[in-house]
Amino acid sequence: MKVLVVGNGGREHALAWKLLQSKKIEQIVCVPGNGGTASMECCQNIPLAVDDFEGISKLALEKDISVVVVGPEVPLAMGITDYLQSKGLMVFGPSKAGAQIEASKAWAKALMQEAGIPTAKAAVFTEATAAKSYIKSQGAPIVVKADGLAAGKGVTVAQTLAEAEDAIDAIFQGQFGSAGNFVVIEECLLGQEVSVLALTDGLTIRPLLPAQDHKRIGDGDTGDNTGGMGAYAPAPIATPELMARVQIEVLEKAIALLRTKGIDYRGVLYAGLMVSADGDFKVLEFNCRFGDPETQVILPLLETPLEDLILACIQQRLAEMPPIAWKKGAAATVVAASGGYPGEYEKGQVIAGIKEAEASGAKVFHAGTKLNEPQQILTDGGRVLNVTGLGENFQQAIAQAYAGIKHIHFSGVYYRRDIGHRVLSPKS
Ligand code: AMP
Ligand code: GLY
Repeated sequence: MKVLVVGNGGREHALAWKLLQSKKIEQIVCVPGNGGTASMECCQNIPLAVDDFEGISKLALEKDISVVVVGPEVPLAMGITDYLQSKGLMVFGPSKAGAQIEASKAWAKALMQEAGIPTAKAAVFTEATAAKSYIKSQGAPIVVKADGLAAGKGVTVAQTLAEAEDAIDAIFQGQFGSAGNFVVIEECLLGQEVSVLALTDGLTIRPLLPAQDHKRIGDGDTGDNTGGMGAYAPAPIATPELMARVQIEVLEKAIALLRTKGIDYRGVLYAGLMVSADGDFKVLEFNCRFGDPETQVILPLLETPLEDLILACIQQRLAEMPPIAWKKGAAATVVAASGGYPGEYEKGQVIAGIKEAEASGAKVFHAGTKLNEPQQILTDGGRVLNVTGLGENFQQAIAQAYAGIKHIHFSGVYYRRDIGHRVLSPKS
């Protein structure tokens, strides 16, 4: 079977790598892929844009692709699934209607409220004056969110009213493009975040191992928000009791309501939760895709063949599948980023040490890299590599990731030194 993977991040490298572990997968085509997917055997990059639906469908038909797996949210929100399905292709990822769960925070919030899913109290505004008088009535800290996809930059956790007002102005002045038509203002939740990614065929929904991301650029969870600087799984804060509640109070409720709205949601439903000190939780957001870098720690622990799960979702057979099987132990990944990220950074730096990192036992997933013939890998993005370690426990997994990343060199390389601090010293 041949699979086409859409995207070019660490998540897509991990998906391609995992799929190629199965004898049933003869070839992966990545659109556009990165230096990691270009370097794998039986894997080919094709330089098409992720929103070139016509090009992707022609390629998939030409190459006799059995399944298209869509990584990023942008093509899903633009309707890639609907388009490719209309050409007779099998696609893993929700329809445009389903992807609204990530693409519109206002829509997702209304869905959560209607379904009775625990979430932060929120109000939606279409102009600045009413939004500002609302934040005055609520006080700070308060969270201001641009409505649409803003590549993770549309959310401000404002510590003061002035900061919240500036965020409202920025949104209505169009700094986030069409994400600036609405603003969602939310109560500020405190606690630890955890990512629960679940697979669904529209009827049945099964969670994967919970993972914890590290969103801030700096050690000690300080500085600007990023796409994610490191992750580990399984996150102990998501206890079996919590996961049982999430299944009933979040995942099943969301799928059931989507179904009554006529949305047959098949793919990944990712619930970002805030878990408070007393162990209660609320949903911060839904995403319509695999998390990045969560996927880079979840898939190395997955024992059930990924393609079996993907096909079961597409063909609505998930209920017939045996429980998802996992390797024992833990996984951790540390992101090597370009200096300056999440602000401005340079591209095109030569990367050294990937082979040495892998020889030390770590697995290196590429994110923002490209292959520069012959055999030279260059930086090509903000988050460059995800160095992943596995072990019997978190100590071993984290030690393996850090032992690996020590070998990685490129001009300006930056990585957090404290990935996993919560599981290494649980009181911090
Ligand atoms: P979102 O895109 O909605 O997940 O927001 C991005 C990040 O902003 C989240 O991962 C949290 O770190 C933070 N955040 C979002 N909503 C809230 C909230 N209601 N309270 C506190 N932090 C939040
Ligand atoms: N790691 C956060 C995300 O994938 O949205």
